Amino acid sequence: MRDDYFSTRSSVRQYSDREVPRELLIDIIEKAMRAPTCGNMQLYSIVVTTEGERKARLNELHFNQPAAATSPVILTICADFNRFTRWCEISGADPGYDNFHSFITATTDAVIMAQQIVTVAEMNGLGTCYLGTVNYNAAEISKLLELPDLVVPVASLSIGYPAKRDELCERLPVEAVVHFDTYRKDSDREITDLFKVKDDFEANRNFVKENGKRNLAELFTDIRYPRKLNEEVSESFSALIREKGFLGKEEKKD
Ligand SMILES: Cc1cc2nc3c(=O)[nH]c(=O)nc-3n(C[C@H](O)[C@H](O)[C@H](O)COP(=O)(O)O)c2cc1C
Repeated sequence: MRDDYFSTRSSVRQYSDREVPRELLIDIIEKAMRAPTCGNMQLYSIVVTTEGERKARLNELHFNQPAAATSPVILTICADFNRFTRWCEISGADPGYDNFHSFITATTDAVIMAQQIVTVAEMNGLGTCYLGTVNYNAAEISKLLELPDLVVPVASLSIGYPAKRDELCERLPVEAVVHFDTYRKDSDREITDLFKVKDDFEANRNFVKENGKRNLAELFTDIRYPRKLNEEVSESFSALIREKGFLGKEEKKD
């Protein structure tokens, strides 16, 4: 285990061909399952995709981004109230988990689980990368993986042995994110100073220049995460959590 792990970790987007043995994967997931979970209900499921047509299709649904396409394994981590609801029903108990609160609870469990998998996998020499594209095509991914009611994909991870590691990227200074007692109201000047580390980071500067933008903020708002995309994804994702029964079922129209 690397003792400098926490200060040097980074995401991996290029993987080698080396296979990740199934036993290792299961061992990592089992260790990660010691993560905290709401009421010890374990409101998550993980769909493992490794090869064949389904992996190729899943890569496509992640826009064939290198972190997906070069990886031997993609884990789709789902918020899952299906298993728990069924257990309640089988036991003659009356479950009330088909609502937004329960979606948030299961999502929190699933995301904590995802990050625990990242930590355990990386501490064992594997590389990982979250695939935020899971939100963009969540409905198609749900179909591909045959997810039932009350199961929604909320995080995807590519996993494999690294072929290449990117340079460690920047972070805001710790003062930016810590507030003592009450939320500190930073001035415009203070915000500008806090973000200097990002504005000045060389790779970011190059990215801004390559895209003909005036600054890094504009690269985010115009190219990486623009309003239109955020609104479209919000709409399709809301429709999916409704379809999966977390917002009550739509009334059938005649
Ligand atoms: C929710 C989430 C979604 C992400 N989506 C992607 C993605 O789609 N593609 C990618 O290459 N990296 C993705 N990442 C990785 C981030 O870009 C990365 O964590 C961040 O730039 C910091 O880099 P580091 O992890 O190497 O420190 C995602 C990370 C998170 C937490």
